[in-house]
Amino acid sequence: MEDKKKTVIANDPKKVFGRSPDQHILNVVKESCQEAFNLPSFDTTLQTIKSHFFDRNYDAVFQNPGHLPVYSARYAPSRALCYYHLFLEHPVLMKTLEGPSTILCIGSGAGSELVGISAAMVHANPVLKVKKVKKSADKEQSTKGAAKTEVHAEAGAEQMSKDTSVIKGNDTNGAVEDTTLGMEKLAVTSSEPTQDPSTDAPAPAAAVTKTKPKKSKVNKHQVTIVMQDYVDWSPILGPMESVIRSRMVLGPERLQCETEIGNVLDLSEGLLERVAKADLITFMFVLNELFQDKKRTMLLVAKIVAAMPSGAHMLVADSAGSFSNLKVGDRTYMVYMLLDHLKSLEIVYQDDATWYRCPPSLTYPLKLENMRHFVRIYRKL
Ligand SMILES: C[S@@+](CC[C@H](N)C(=O)[O-])C[C@H]1O[C@@H](n2cnc3c(N)ncnc32)[C@H](O)[C@@H]1O
Repeated sequence: MEDKKKTVIANDPKKVFGRSPDQHILNVVKESCQEAFNLPSFDTTLQTIKSHFFDRNYDAVFQNPGHLPVYSARYAPSRALCYYHLFLEHPVLMKTLEGPSTILCIGSGAGSELVGISAAMVHANPVLKVKKVKKSADKEQSTKGAAKTEVHAEAGAEQMSKDTSVIKGNDTNGAVEDTTLGMEKLAVTSSEPTQDPSTDAPAPAAAVTKTKPKKSKVNKHQVTIVMQDYVDWSPILGPMESVIRSRMVLGPERLQCETEIGNVLDLSEGLLERVAKADLITFMFVLNELFQDKKRTMLLVAKIVAAMPSGAHMLVADSAGSFSNLKVGDRTYMVYMLLDHLKSLEIVYQDDATWYRCPPSLTYPLKLENMRHFVRIYRKL
C-alpha cells in the first residue's frame, strides 16, 4: 500500500526536467506567456512599464491590465529561476514543500513564485526524502543560519542600537516612529479586531477569493500556493498553472493553486485568516513597493507577524540596492532591518546582498536579468 503511494507522489526531477531544469523552467514561462510574445505592442508596452518603474509609479505599472502579460513575460523568468534555486538551497523551505502545507505569497500575481516554487516541489519528494530533508533542515537552523544570524544580527543590532531613539519612539518628529513602536506592541496582540488604518472604519470584508479552497480531504502531501495580489492576474496565472501541471507533472493531489485579490494594505480579515493558516508567507520583490506607504506597511507587517502561527516561516527577498531603503526620520535603513528587530521573529537565514545570475547557456526570447537581492528567512517564535 505504502509502495503504491510512493509511485503516485514521487517525482523524478531528471525525468520531469530532462538535462537542464533551468531551461525547462524557462520553457514553462515561455509557453505560458506565448500570447504576450505575439502582441504587436509588446516592445512599446515594455518601454511604458520600464518608465513607470523608473518613476516608481507602481500603480501605473500594475493597474493597467494591458501591462500584465508583458510584465510576466519579461520579469517572471529570471525571478522564477531565482526562487527555484533559493528554495533548493534551504532545507527549511524545502520541508514546506513536502506538504501538507499552505504557502501564502503576497504580491505574487505575475507568476514567478508559482513557477519557481512548483519547480522546487518536483525535488521535494515527500515520501522518499522525508527523513533526509528533516535532518538537513535542523542542521540549517543550528549551523549555517545561526552562524550567519549571529554575525549579521550583531551588526544590525549595533547599527540600530545607535539609533535607539528612533526605534524606541523617542524621536518625536513624525508619525512613522510612533508606528514603529506600535509594531512591537501590535506584534503581541494578535486578537485585536482588524481595522482599515487609513480610516477608523472596520476593514472591508474578506477580499474576493477567485478560486475557493477545495472541500475535498486534504492530501497528506498537498501544497497549497495562495497567490495574493491587488490586481486580477488570472489571465496569466490560469494558463501558467495548466502548463506547470503538465510540464512539471504536478497533479491536484500535490499542488493546489488559489488566488486572493485585494490590496494587502487594507488588512482584510480574509487576509489575516489566510496568514493564520499559512506555514510559509513570502514577500518577494514587493516589500519595498509597499513601503511607499510606510505607515500602513508597518502596520501590515505587525499584523501579519502577530497573526502568524508559532513555527511558521516568512521569506522575504527584494532588491539589495537603494530601492529597499526606508527613511525613518532623517535616517535611512534597509527594509529588512525593521523585520530583524521584531522580537517575535527569529532570523533563520540572512544575506544582505547576493546575486542570482542566469547561466549564459539558457535561451529565452528576451534578455534574462541577473538579480542582486537580499534574503531573509524568519521563524515566528
Ligand atoms: C514587483 S512585482 C513582484 C511580483 C512577484 N512577487 C515577483 O517576484 O515576480 C509586485 C507585485 O505586487 C503586487 N502589489 C503591489 N502592491 C500591492 C498591494 N498593495 N497589495 C497586493 N499586491 C500588490 C503587484 O500587482 C505585483 O504583482
